[in-house]
Amino acid sequence: MSRVAIVTGGTRGIGEAISLALRDAGMTVAANYAGNEAKAKEFSDRTGIKAYRWDVGDHQACLDGCAQVASDLGPVDVLVNNAGITRDGVLQKMSFDDWNEVIRVNLGGCFNMAKAVFPGMRERGWGRIVNIGSINGQAGQYGQVNYAAAKSGIHGFTKALAQEGAKFGVTVNALAPGYIDTDMVAAVPPQVLEKIVAKIPVGRLGHAEEIARGVAFLCAEDGGFITGSTLSLNGGQHMY
Ligand SMILES: NC(=O)c1ccc[n+]([C@@H]2O[C@H](COP(=O)([O-])OP(=O)(O)OC[C@H]3O[C@@H](n4cnc5c(N)ncnc54)[C@H](OP(=O)(O)O)[C@@H]3O)[C@@H](O)[C@H]2O)c1
Repeated sequence: MSRVAIVTGGTRGIGEAISLALRDAGMTVAANYAGNEAKAKEFSDRTGIKAYRWDVGDHQACLDGCAQVASDLGPVDVLVNNAGITRDGVLQKMSFDDWNEVIRVNLGGCFNMAKAVFPGMRERGWGRIVNIGSINGQAGQYGQVNYAAAKSGIHGFTKALAQEGAKFGVTVNALAPGYIDTDMVAAVPPQVLEKIVAKIPVGRLGHAEEIARGVAFLCAEDGGFITGSTLSLNGGQHMY
């Protein structure tokens, strides 16, 4: 029987590529999204992958959403915590709301989703969790204390949960992308982006498919010995 996977933020950007890569690896995929209905519908119509709307920062919504996916598709074997947002600004200008919202969604979302699916994976003796961190969680970034803290937290969360899952066949890994050509990076002013690309040794932004390939690798049936690790895919920008 095919594995059931949930990809949060799985209808566009990096998440869309992950949903497709896991489907191509033979999994039955549920793609979660926050509110962009038009994109979610276009994605589902084009790919046949079911899309489910809920806010990963809302604890109860995650429990309910994952229960719905399990009832529709079967017990969840694979979780990719990919949903993420930015609310950039230097500390002096960053509001408490911008701090809180990024922690709530990016880091809180990982906890909420793991709470929903980890117990079942543990009971069934098999699971794969991949948390999407960031180069900016590893190296820090000007104007991103909220995002860097949330992403850095994801790396700690991963290593702690990996220890809890190891005896039960549940692997937990992080993947830290560098700069990838999605809507999130399209929001960076061109003159800033130009300076960023100049610091990437391969000389270009990454593609979502290049990240998805790493996620599929970590979620593979024969990936049972890879746990608590961070896969850094950044074109050589930060050799961690
Ligand atoms: N792009 C990069 O260069 C880069 C680099 C390092 C790490 N990352 C990380 O990679 C992940 C994906 O980034 P991306 O560039 O593909 O982002 P993106 O293009 O902005 O897409 C974000 C996705 O997350 C969903 N989402 C946002 N808030 C959510 C919430 N509260 N609940 C459920 N879903 C939510 C969005 O849903 P809607 O479509 O409904 O809005 C969308 O599907 C993020 O965690 C990001 O931090 C990205």
